[in-house]
Amino acid sequence: MTRSSRHFATRILSWFDQHGRHDLPWQRSADPYRVWLSEIMLQQTQVKTVIPYFERFLLRFPTVTSLAAAPEDEVLHLWTGLGYYARARNLHKAAKMVSAEFGGEFPDDLQALQALPGIGRSTAGSILASSFGKRGIILDGNVKRVLARHRAVAGWPGKSAVHDNLWTIAEELTPGERHRDYNQAMMDLGALLCTRSSPACGVCPLAADCIARQQGNPQDYPGKKPRKAMPVKSTRLLMARNSAGEVWLEKRPAPGIWGGLWCFPEAGERSPAQWSSDTLGCTPTAVEHWPEFRHTFSHYHLDIEPVLLQLPVSPGSVMEADRQLWYNVRETAQVGLAAPVLRLLLQLAGEPQDKAEE
Ligand code: ADE
Repeated sequence: MTRSSRHFATRILSWFDQHGRHDLPWQRSADPYRVWLSEIMLQQTQVKTVIPYFERFLLRFPTVTSLAAAPEDEVLHLWTGLGYYARARNLHKAAKMVSAEFGGEFPDDLQALQALPGIGRSTAGSILASSFGKRGIILDGNVKRVLARHRAVAGWPGKSAVHDNLWTIAEELTPGERHRDYNQAMMDLGALLCTRSSPACGVCPLAADCIARQQGNPQDYPGKKPRKAMPVKSTRLLMARNSAGEVWLEKRPAPGIWGGLWCFPEAGERSPAQWSSDTLGCTPTAVEHWPEFRHTFSHYHLDIEPVLLQLPVSPGSVMEADRQLWYNVRETAQVGLAAPVLRLLLQLAGEPQDKAEE
């Protein structure tokens, strides 16, 4: 380790001791299960959103073996609202692998961790450092921003040359001790001081040799992703409501959007009446078109047109109980719901009861 790397680590660690975050729920223990769960939840979601999800998840699944034994619906239910559901499905798969292949104990080496679904190089590094006290190296979004500014690394980190360069810098700067604190310090500095749009250079422990600061343009780092217009897709979601006020939901197949989540059926080319006749063998007594709204995924916008079908049928059994369900909008079921579906269910639950029974 060079003198300048040591100097970097010393400054950031002493800043962390005074100003870093020390009471996040996942900092209370070095249990790799907790560290892993928090890292997966934090991959695309902010700390304040994650905290209640993390705590609820642990109450229900206190160990990796309890998670491995759970039905997928229940795992997805506890993930409802966090988004990026592939994370939850991978989490569940990885829990099963840790239970079956490692007797419920997380492996303590980089390669074995990275072989688990959903665990990339940075997440594996974080688990190594935080749970096993090893020199695990991380490069999440916060760390990329701090390093890109400190060294004025130009270009978008999604490009492999930029990404590789940042990994090399991360390797070079990570110290040989206090691994967990150093990683947390880098994330905290990125989240609290070296923020995307208003970096607090005046109080930053790294300001003295930060090249972007010397140049006067920290906000230009890291480089932005080349802008491509996001495609817009559209769909019509059918909210078929029976005479007891329950609505018809279907479980989506695993590949594709909302895989494993429960959703209103998409009409496709069929008219709502045709769908109703094909699927339920009845004709709606009323059809109500609700205002269209937009749901944005990472790669496209989806314009959703909800259509409410009031059906004369009384609640009945479904043909495929594992894929179809009459959902009572006033009681939550233990299943995962896509965010726009949850929003529509809440709207349906808020409607006057008599409307449901018209
Ligand atoms: N993002 C990823 N890991 C984190 C952690 N341990 N604390 C805060 N933000 C994070």
